[in-house]
Amino acid sequence: MTANNMRDDWWKQAVVYQVYPRSFKDANGDGLGDIAGVTSKIDYLKQLGVDAIWLSPFYPSDLADGGYDVIDYRNVDPRLGTMDDFDEMVKVAHEAGIKVIVDIVPNHTADKHVLFQEALAAGPGSPERDRYIFRDGRGEHGELPPNDWISLFGGPAWQQVPDGQWYLHIFAKEQPDVNWKNPDIHEEFKKTLRFWSDHGTDGFRIDVAHGLAKDLESVPLDQMDPLAVQHGLCHDFTSPLWDRKEVHDIYREWREVFNEYNPPRFAVGEAWVVPEHQHLYASTDELGQVFNFEFAEANWDVDAMRSAILAGLKSAEETHGSTTTWVMSNHDVPRHVSRYGLPQVPASSHHQLAKDWLLRDGTSYFEDRELGTKRARAAIMMELGLPGSTYIYQGEELGLPEVADIPWDRLEDPTPFFTRERFIEKGRDGCRVPLPWDSSDVPAPAEWNAGFGTGASFGFSPATKADGTASADPHLPQPLWYKQYAADVEDADDASMLNLYRTTLSLRATLLTATGDTADCAAVDAGHDVIAYTRPSADGRRFASYTNFGSAPVELPAGEIVLASGDVADGQLPQDTTVWILLD
Ligand code: GLC
Repeated sequence: MTANNMRDDWWKQAVVYQVYPRSFKDANGDGLGDIAGVTSKIDYLKQLGVDAIWLSPFYPSDLADGGYDVIDYRNVDPRLGTMDDFDEMVKVAHEAGIKVIVDIVPNHTADKHVLFQEALAAGPGSPERDRYIFRDGRGEHGELPPNDWISLFGGPAWQQVPDGQWYLHIFAKEQPDVNWKNPDIHEEFKKTLRFWSDHGTDGFRIDVAHGLAKDLESVPLDQMDPLAVQHGLCHDFTSPLWDRKEVHDIYREWREVFNEYNPPRFAVGEAWVVPEHQHLYASTDELGQVFNFEFAEANWDVDAMRSAILAGLKSAEETHGSTTTWVMSNHDVPRHVSRYGLPQVPASSHHQLAKDWLLRDGTSYFEDRELGTKRARAAIMMELGLPGSTYIYQGEELGLPEVADIPWDRLEDPTPFFTRERFIEKGRDGCRVPLPWDSSDVPAPAEWNAGFGTGASFGFSPATKADGTASADPHLPQPLWYKQYAADVEDADDASMLNLYRTTLSLRATLLTATGDTADCAAVDAGHDVIAYTRPSADGRRFASYTNFGSAPVELPAGEIVLASGDVADGQLPQDTTVWILLD
């Protein structure tokens, strides 16, 4: 157990590793990652040096949205294992000193969830139907949806049921939004929080945390902003769907549940809100921490990165008792090695550029992977030296680029579904491809664009199932160039991304014992193109991190260079490089 993890407030300065379970490690050979697969890699995660793992949903699901369509919140998808497997994984993780965080999806259930099935069966006006957001339609016979809202995944946000009513779904139609004005929903989710806490879970990641409270009554539905679903960022709390003030009542209620446990359970909210509202979710009377997505949204640009850092630090200062979070990648955004290797355009258009690049199978712009990798190395060191918690997405420690050219007919993500014929959106599968663990089962050379592997899985699945038959292919195809990123290849290479992550994490744990408090972090003015800051180091000296975004080398201050993301010679810091220094 790391010294950090022995503290009750371990989460304030934690490194949390996000596991996307269906693509992490397959233990039984069905081509889908599973819980036993996670257990088998706890040693790897311990060696990496993470404090906690967060598992994206592993609950029973029809996978209409990668598991975020939950059929039963208090069970394990039988394809991924059993509750016994879960308990075993928690035990092994805890023995390794690693905390476990599970994902709670409270904005919507799956349409197959028993509460939604009861709502359908009970009919209009029933107490069961009141647990979701059902409305009558417009038009003479109610044949039109209550309004023209478009769901975030495309297509209408309302779905009609056989008795004529319509239900709201902000995401896929298999994800009906629940009605948080109904007390049964409150009880249901508190039961779920206690269930996983009783199974040893240390904390929760709260999906779409800013969406639960809705006001669909004050204004007639057909007079509401037609783009209310898309208009998520609202400064004045007036959106009918997002970031409403009442959402905080829910989290204050949950805090009482978290505090029933010793140590109190931790939570981090996924809230895509304006930066000045983030701290409301992160209040220690509520969730305790919130994702700051500014890094995930910034391209490799000194101004964008600087303002991302300042926004994160400011949001933490506004929250008494909480810390900030840093996230470069997750299961919803293209991998940052690729983002940083694409042409760097203003932040406002970078998102669109990445989408366009994906749409054209990675051919519309040149992806400079070498440059992207160099920048990603500099970025993780810049990030890990900062106060607060860092969230690492599985495979980023291997420096995996995005798989941009998954064939359309192999995509699983619902976001391309509505657009396949029109080819306007390729979706999020390129960062969800099963991880490459072992290069030895794939004989092909590691060439770019050599196509996808067949009959081998880079050790993602075992060669055979328990009955001796061959394992199924991984559920998303792995490109042959994955070979050079396989964990065994990187393990053997001192200069690999994996070994940089390991060293950075271990130095962070020993050099920076701070609590994640922003007050001990001071910006250093080293010129416009350099992001530099100092913090106290554990040995009483001052720790400093310098990142050079500019083309001219930068003179470093006197001190002991403890780590560099690239070549540093003669006290000069080259472009796209970070160093950690203990100052003289
Ligand atoms: C969150 C998840 C995303 C999912 C959505 C709906 O944004 O991160 O993957 O599609 O919620 O649950």
